[in-house]
Amino acid sequence: MAEPAMAEPGHEPDRIVREAPAKLNLTLAVIRRRADGYHALHSVMVPLSLADTVTVSLARVSAPPSQKGLGDSTAEFDSTARLDSLAISGFEVSGVGQNLVLRAIVRARAAVSETWPSAPALPPPLAAELVKRIPIASGLGGGSSDAASALDAALEAWDATLSIDRALAVAMALGSDVPFFLASGAARISGRGEFVDPLPDLKGRQPAVLLVTPRVAVSTREVFEAFSRGVRPIHPEAAQDVSERLAADMAAGLRGVALLGRAAELATSNDLLPASVAVVPTLLPFRIALARLLALPVGQSGSGPTCWTLYSSLTAARKAARVVEKAIQAGMLPDIGHGPPFVVATTILTRPAASPADRATSPADDNRGHRVPRGGDNVAVSEPESPTNGSVGESAEQDER
Ligand code: C5P
Repeated sequence: MAEPAMAEPGHEPDRIVREAPAKLNLTLAVIRRRADGYHALHSVMVPLSLADTVTVSLARVSAPPSQKGLGDSTAEFDSTARLDSLAISGFEVSGVGQNLVLRAIVRARAAVSETWPSAPALPPPLAAELVKRIPIASGLGGGSSDAASALDAALEAWDATLSIDRALAVAMALGSDVPFFLASGAARISGRGEFVDPLPDLKGRQPAVLLVTPRVAVSTREVFEAFSRGVRPIHPEAAQDVSERLAADMAAGLRGVALLGRAAELATSNDLLPASVAVVPTLLPFRIALARLLALPVGQSGSGPTCWTLYSSLTAARKAARVVEKAIQAGMLPDIGHGPPFVVATTILTRPAASPADRATSPADDNRGHRVPRGGDNVAVSEPESPTNGSVGESAEQDER
């Protein structure tokens, strides 16, 4: 692939920079528990302007020399992976070794090495940097987004590509939300998270979003376990109905202003709400107090604890953020975490305007600044629930609802 004539944002010759956006679940319906222990979902998810930044470059160390084939060289693979590094700034993140950025690089290397032209040499070690702005374990998908960005940036650093099927398999192995971030845009999510059907951006002005995240880490696994034990909404089908209607209306060109009119029903259309409260009971009084303070419906993203409210403009959302910050200082919101909640006004992110490169169809030109094909039709990951979708690990499901 030809080198660009000069460095562009996100495509510097030595450092590959990716913005890793947060996600918001506008709806989250849990359809049933599957035989593999995961839950089949129906969710409308949108990316947000709030983003981490992932930067990847070739590490300034020489990779261990490779003389053998890969099949018998797990140790060699491990020693190359040990030379990958990650520096984190911003939000405090514990356990760099467990960070999804490093895991994404290791899995990307394994996937790439199968077709690596310099085999038996391995794709070389990478030095990654992560600037965390999205609070961790907050229901905003920050770790998953970092992983998707790291996968994409690693491929670019190695000048490698993966088919969308291989990329999706890597993404699913990293986490259920990761495939969404390969698609860069609003999407209807189904299956365990592997079926990502892109939806058009909302028409007209994008709603702004106020995020209020109490500093309590909520374990997604524990929340789903509580759901499995029967901690569920009173009306079991309601969230799915709202979610399907929203997806259909967005597919037909829903306007941003119309989304605002649905805030009340969206705010209650998260089937994990009761389970999140079962895991962290203080979330309930916190959300009630926040709704009273803002006099607006307050929803929850994913398994929480992030609370959201929608506004017609960023100015209005910023004003609300100041109201919340003052209320926190005045002790008007329950003090439920290890410190004051994270408060930010952000917007729903739209896809970049199509450029001629975006419309290219040849695989060589189809990277659009990304190594994993993204957006539009590229990640229309076939029909949900179809038995032919086994390529990313879908197993036979069992309806336990
Ligand atoms: O896939 P991920 O690692 O993000 O999921 C964390 C946990 O949440 C899983 O171990 C599983 O217990 C639960 N989960 C689920 N159904 C999903 C997604 C996650 O039960 N669709």
